[in-house]
Amino acid sequence: MSLVLVANRAPIRPTSTGWAPALGGLASALLPVLEAQGGAWVAMQEPDERTPLFQRYPDDDPRFTVRRVPLEEPEYAAFYQGMANRVLWPLAHYLVEHVEPERTFRDAYRAVNRRFAHAALDVAREQGGAVQFWIQDYHMMLVPEMIRGALAGAQVGFFWHVPWPASEVFRIVPSATALLKGLLGSDLIGFHTEGYAENFRESARDLLGAEIDPEGVHWQGRHVRVEAHPIGIDVERFVGFGERPETQAQAEALVEELGDVQIVLGVDRLDYTKGLLLRMEAFERFLELYPEMHGRVTLLQVATPSRTGVPAYDRLRRDMDEITGRINGRFAQGAWAPVRYRYRSFTQEELAVLYRAADVAFVTPLRDGMNLVAHEFAAVSERGALVLSELTGAADYLDGAVFVNPYDAEGMARSLREALDLPEDDRRRRLASLRAAVERLDVHVWADRFLTSLDGRPAPPADGEGG
Ligand code: ADP
Ligand code: G6P
Repeated sequence: MSLVLVANRAPIRPTSTGWAPALGGLASALLPVLEAQGGAWVAMQEPDERTPLFQRYPDDDPRFTVRRVPLEEPEYAAFYQGMANRVLWPLAHYLVEHVEPERTFRDAYRAVNRRFAHAALDVAREQGGAVQFWIQDYHMMLVPEMIRGALAGAQVGFFWHVPWPASEVFRIVPSATALLKGLLGSDLIGFHTEGYAENFRESARDLLGAEIDPEGVHWQGRHVRVEAHPIGIDVERFVGFGERPETQAQAEALVEELGDVQIVLGVDRLDYTKGLLLRMEAFERFLELYPEMHGRVTLLQVATPSRTGVPAYDRLRRDMDEITGRINGRFAQGAWAPVRYRYRSFTQEELAVLYRAADVAFVTPLRDGMNLVAHEFAAVSERGALVLSELTGAADYLDGAVFVNPYDAEGMARSLREALDLPEDDRRRRLASLRAAVERLDVHVWADRFLTSLDGRPAPPADGEGG
């Protein structure tokens, strides 16, 4: 059966020398899946983007096709920057103060979803034969219902890549019922954790009056299955980066360049859900509490530009510059800078060097789904410790981490010290447990399990679940 995947963000981005994996958890997880399984990926083309509307990738040995749906500036602003990123994104992450009125975004969201549904149906027709539609994430909530409306017998799966909030929070958005009905056009809806799946079933019960059971939602004479399918990374790829001799050599060079300090690493899209400002405050508190660590530890924070033009993201960019300046102004001595902050994107090979060089990965989102940075670190690191926010879906699975509350700067400062001081055997034991969990959650296993379940055949058990 062939696969037609629909996701707003294309899996590859143009660079000065060719193509690179796109940034963000969804694209980096699903690119290797399409490379392995083949099929088509329907994605947006931003207004100023110069990419082909139809592309086979990779050029030299095509594995799958990319279809782009070109967006005009006003629909990009209302659909992507507006409904997706100023309403649904903060809503899913419980950051209700960032949720904006959606009335002016609603029509564009529906219209763009319709264009994606049509594009997916066109691609399916061209491919011929049996097709599985696999729709991704909060940009595309109405697409399942639209595909089902046009093709009653279609097999439609949906994966939600971010947390699903409690129904009391989801109902804040005035279009809540329309959005739920859109999703319920699917045969199978997947979430990272059983908790998110349960929140979704309860939303359908509370807001639509639908009958639910532990496996799903009864809707319009169909039973829509709602399941936990924890996603992971392409483990072999990242383990491979870690094992390259040049990764090790560059990691050593980096430690030396920073003055033989211990490295605390942050790697994120510049996004307010990632808890960056509170993380910086926690590090400032760490420096206040432990003067003996001055000159011995550096926070290396890399943040890739994301969703520029959305006001909250532009503000965060300014705030990060300011807080970095404040901390370095207070504590820097000689050649030692307590914070090294880089606002740019890195290749996966470069990230592997950072993961290898780090003593601690400091992953402290206010809310997050799987957080693939934590997985990538565990796959590459040889000796590091992971400090992880307990408010992530990943926390359900990665029990080798040191857990923190990302709203508690003082607690994070103390846990950071604990992580830096972990005895060697404890650190190794934790890393081995993390590595084992990350291997169980491998993205190829995740995709096979989801698509098998969608196909109606018995799916193997969710191995990684519960750690
Ligand atoms: P999200 O899905 O919110 O983007 P994840 O942690 O799940 O967060 O996934 C982020 C992905 O983007 C990872 O694959 C990571 O390697 C990549 N990424 C994040 N920050 C950077 C950066 N500064 N440079 C390059 N890639 C990055
Ligand atoms: C998260 C979302 C994805 C999104 C990615 C990057 O991973 O779940 O759907 O693609 O962030 O964000 P962007 O807005 O650049 O696509």
